[in-house]
Amino acid sequence: MYAKLTSVPGPVAAMRETEEARGDSPAGLGAAGDRIEIRGVNRIYQGNGREVHALSDINLHIRRGEFVTLFGPSGCGKSTLLRIIAGLDRQSSGEVRLFKQDPLDASRSKNIAWIPQSSSLLPWLTIRRNVELSARLNRRADRLRLTARKPERPMQVLRELGLGEFADKRPAQLSGGMRQRASIARGFVQGAPMMLMDEPFSALDELTRDALQLRLLDLWEKHRKTVIFVTHSAAEAVLLSDRVVVMTSRPGRIHSIIDIDLPRPRPAGIEDSPAFGELVRRVKATLRAGWEGA
Ligand SMILES: Nc1ncnc2c1ncn2[C@@H]1O[C@H](COP(=O)(O)OP(=O)(O)OP(=O)(O)O)[C@@H](O)[C@H]1O
Ligand SMILES: [Mg+2]
Repeated sequence: MYAKLTSVPGPVAAMRETEEARGDSPAGLGAAGDRIEIRGVNRIYQGNGREVHALSDINLHIRRGEFVTLFGPSGCGKSTLLRIIAGLDRQSSGEVRLFKQDPLDASRSKNIAWIPQSSSLLPWLTIRRNVELSARLNRRADRLRLTARKPERPMQVLRELGLGEFADKRPAQLSGGMRQRASIARGFVQGAPMMLMDEPFSALDELTRDALQLRLLDLWEKHRKTVIFVTHSAAEAVLLSDRVVVMTSRPGRIHSIIDIDLPRPRPAGIEDSPAFGELVRRVKATLRAGWEGA
């Protein structure tokens, strides 16, 4: 049995059942400082005299070093949830704690690397300089005692992402895939223990995307950061994640959480295995069920 689909009546029950399955139920909350906790989060946007309930009663716990993907239809609140976790937006009600820290504090103390859909490199600097700048800002934060981590070395990470030869080019001289890789490199040298990635590969061609997924898997195996990733691709979600959080829209809710019980490190060719295909089918079927039930 490769996967366990947690499909229960309500989102709170879903969280509880998943926690119990993992042996970290609220009764034994000793581990609360060792995870991201999202409790009863709602986000209501006001605009043009009407309210948009972007997120409704979101409950989710994410363990340190876990790779979790948010998956769901357009408008179900994936980016809103990610922005709230990153401290870039604030929930209307509910609570978010990142290893006991408030998201704003976590962001200020450089505990979060934010990787958006399109790269946001500084165009006048080479990619090496772009990445070094992030590393330097991180060292400065260290001196101010905002962080206490050993950052990754810029050139080493660029090489790991296949950009060693292109380190002295400016962003405009590179392809979109290379720029996106440089963005990821920048995220890694920040030394932040959490990486939040909002559809980082969605604008890339399939081959580049496949290559980047493998690079990201390698980097994750090596550094075991806590990653929250957003994608519209069921196969990408299954390949990368420990758990896939399937969301539904209007209002944005968690429908189910699917454990991806495939071996780590993910062996080459795993995408051709029956277990992988079955998981992708399950993730898609769950999305459809949420869509039809909405
Ligand atoms: N600043 C805002 N003001 C008003 N409504 C907003 C704002 N940001 C998001 N929304 C609304 O909240 C809902 C969730 O948006 P969000 O961007 O989080 O969805 P998403 O799941 O990331 O979608 P996509 O897959 O298309 O990126 C949508 O209905 C959107 O229109
Ligand atoms: Mg989005």
